Amino acid sequence: MNEGMITSAYIIAAILFILSLSGLSKQETAGRGNQFGIAGMAIAVLATIMNSDVNAYGVLLVTIGVGGGIGAYLARRVEMTQMPELVAILHSFVGLAAVLVGFATYLDPESNYVGTERTIHDVEIYLGVLIGALTFTGSVIAFGKLSGKVTSKALILPGRHMLNIGIGVACAILLVLFLGTAPEGAAAADASIGKGAGTFILILMTLLAFAFGVHMVMAIGGADMPVVISMLNSYSGWAAAATGFMLSNDLLIIVGALVGSSGAILSYIMCRAMNRKFFSVIMGGWGDAPKGPAVEGEEEQGEAVAINADEVAQLCKDAESVVIVPGYGMAVAHAQHPVSELTQKLKAAGINVRFAIHPVAGRMPGHMNVLLAEANVPYDLVLEMDEINEDLSSTDVVIVIGANDIVNPAALENPNSPIAGMPVLEVWNAKQVIVSKRSMATGYAGVENPLFFRENTRMLFGDAKESVNGILANL
Ligand code: TAP
Repeated sequence: MNEGMITSAYIIAAILFILSLSGLSKQETAGRGNQFGIAGMAIAVLATIMNSDVNAYGVLLVTIGVGGGIGAYLARRVEMTQMPELVAILHSFVGLAAVLVGFATYLDPESNYVGTERTIHDVEIYLGVLIGALTFTGSVIAFGKLSGKVTSKALILPGRHMLNIGIGVACAILLVLFLGTAPEGAAAADASIGKGAGTFILILMTLLAFAFGVHMVMAIGGADMPVVISMLNSYSGWAAAATGFMLSNDLLIIVGALVGSSGAILSYIMCRAMNRKFFSVIMGGWGDAPKGPAVEGEEEQGEAVAINADEVAQLCKDAESVVIVPGYGMAVAHAQHPVSELTQKLKAAGINVRFAIHPVAGRMPGHMNVLLAEANVPYDLVLEMDEINEDLSSTDVVIVIGANDIVNPAALENPNSPIAGMPVLEVWNAKQVIVSKRSMATGYAGVENPLFFRENTRMLFGDAKESVNGILANL
């Protein structure tokens, strides 16, 4: 393939990626968005392979075969509830790739940049390795937190802000030293000269960035993880864009910038949804140890009152309006199909039934929407928190299915709560609230939920799928 054809293929792929992003922004068009993305990626990979610079086809085919095989195997096996951690670990691969490409580009014996070009190239390498390294370790820790292998509680080291600032300053000084290692004069054109000191500095900075990635994500508390995920998503995009600069690959720069900027927008949306300041979150300033008692007035909370599926079915039959609030537990229980069936039955009985979706319900952006779409719940019944919160006070029955933090009144009522200020679904304003979960355990943020003790709340204990099937059987 000649240069012109490759550039054309890259432009087509870039357009397909943009169409893909626009398709993915709505449930109705998400399937098409995915197809555009797959087509764009296929064109991008083919065009890259057919580039005249590529000749090690043996190695390439083996690595594509092994990598693709492992990827396909893992993607087929992964449970819907494990998707967030899969995404986190995939981000870490992008970060690691940026680090490895950065070192390889720096050590390339054929690289012959001199003068200003060399400086620009070295800055690209340095930034690419820096972003890649902190994306790598940050994503590995996020993977650990999301899969429950690492505690979701914030790890707060003494003097943590000074530690972060110290690492930032050290990286800036190392950049200056790194640029100073470029040889001058006649030696400048010889790429094999003067790389020892530069490599040493690059390794030192990589270790610092690794440490920063670990510290940054460890310091973030459970409920703030949505921001971290979208932020790491954004970082992985910028790491890919930096790799694109190092390899002079325009498509990688475009795709990296698309992922980087859409991840940044998602982080902003997540912060707004949770009423948080981005910098405060990533610096571990919020979500740390509770400012007051974690259990709000435990002794005053009284007792939670249980209800059985039969009684819930009766409440539904008597209701004119029902709102279902799905949460992470619905994903764990695979309860979306019986929930969809429940919706159909209630609708058929003339009851106004709708879904209320919190922006951070579940463990990844859009988690609940994906599950409900999979179970064929009509899109027009699925409303965002802002669209439905006001209607809750005129709702007869709210059924909370495996949700906890997103319906916790402490967020609005207890300024000492670790989730204080986070907008939540105000389900307690409804006439009757049913909470389907297995126990009185806390949610991801580890915060007690006073909703369970409210006068108009009844606890439907048990696995959500079994509970919903129980309601269905009694309807
Ligand atoms: P959570 O607050 O995590 O609550 C889920 C509840 O589901 C748990 O209290 C659990 O109680 C219940 N549950 C688990 N398995 C169940 C089963 N088989 N049947 C019935 N119930 C079950 O979930 P949420 O309300 O969706 O809130 C999301 C939380 O995750 C927020 O804190 C959010 O910040 C955080 N987070 C979100 C994201 C994104 S991007 N959405 C990413 C990372 C973290 P039992 O154990 O008693 O059953």
